[in-house]
Amino acid sequence: MYSFSRKELIDILKDNSLNDWLFSFADKVRRENVGDEVHLRGLIEFSNICKCQCNYCGLRSPNKNIERYRIAPDDIIFYAQKAVEMGYKTIVLQSGEDEFYSCDVMCEIIKGIKNFDCALTLSIGERSFEDYKAFKDCGADRYLIRIETTDRELYKKMHPYMDFDNRVRCLKDLKTLGYEVGTGCLVGLPEQTLESLADDVLFFKEIDADMIGIGPFIAHPQTPLKDSANGNFILALKVMALTRILLKTINIPATTAMETLNPNGRIIALQSGANVVMPNVTLQNFSSKYEIYPDKSSLSDRDEAECIIKSIGRTISKGYGFRSNS
Ligand code: 5AD
Repeated sequence: MYSFSRKELIDILKDNSLNDWLFSFADKVRRENVGDEVHLRGLIEFSNICKCQCNYCGLRSPNKNIERYRIAPDDIIFYAQKAVEMGYKTIVLQSGEDEFYSCDVMCEIIKGIKNFDCALTLSIGERSFEDYKAFKDCGADRYLIRIETTDRELYKKMHPYMDFDNRVRCLKDLKTLGYEVGTGCLVGLPEQTLESLADDVLFFKEIDADMIGIGPFIAHPQTPLKDSANGNFILALKVMALTRILLKTINIPATTAMETLNPNGRIIALQSGANVVMPNVTLQNFSSKYEIYPDKSSLSDRDEAECIIKSIGRTISKGYGFRSNS
């Protein structure tokens, strides 16, 4: 069992001379614990309407410079069916915090999709325990909700009208209800410290997350952070690699934010601890509007994903891609 203390994590984050060692160590831990298979998740971004005002996010409600859309429940189910027919074994439903999709509406969508042979992941933000329970009872398997940062002060600055403790409550409720739970953080937010990034990784371990998504912050022109510097690709990769080393058997996506900052970002991530890719399965006209950050790249073509994965000697999993129980 390898483990790192908080001080060791900080030292590694500070010292770039250790990067090659760190990335190959994470790649080895990935291979030994989850193997060479890459899980593809079919991502449906079904609404970009959001009541939140996260200072970094292009979907924040005060942004008037964006064409908002909502996909009708039946159409969401239709896209999911197409994705399952294409071979996806997991469907991920992601949206802004859009109240149109009430508990009842979500339950209908979940039941519709669970008629197909697939696992279902939700990523629709903060809800009550009762909602999470209803979604689980309808067959939802997994839930993604990033903590974004564990630095309470920074969290407060970045998320007007939101409450860090409620976010943690969501993660705990989801665990209690038996979901596979995904969380993660942004790397490179203004004023974020390496110490807080080490704490983020320790937090992932403490809550025993099943999935972790990590990406660099990318400044969006229609947000209060438009003039801030982008996060650093290598630093985000380091946080991801450390997460793999500490949480050996979890699923870690090569995030689109990584690809956005580095043209080879996805491949580099897959070779530094990641084992999941999430291609977008909705039509291009929707994904171009789901602009959380500028130039968000989306691998809409499954063949393209397959090509990338095979080119680095990896294979595509035929399973549902739950967390390995080794
Ligand atoms: N840059 C990078 N990632 C972002 N996200 C939101 N806005 C940005 C941005 N400007 C991430 C958040 C959220 C996920 C869906 O997208 O971490 O949880």
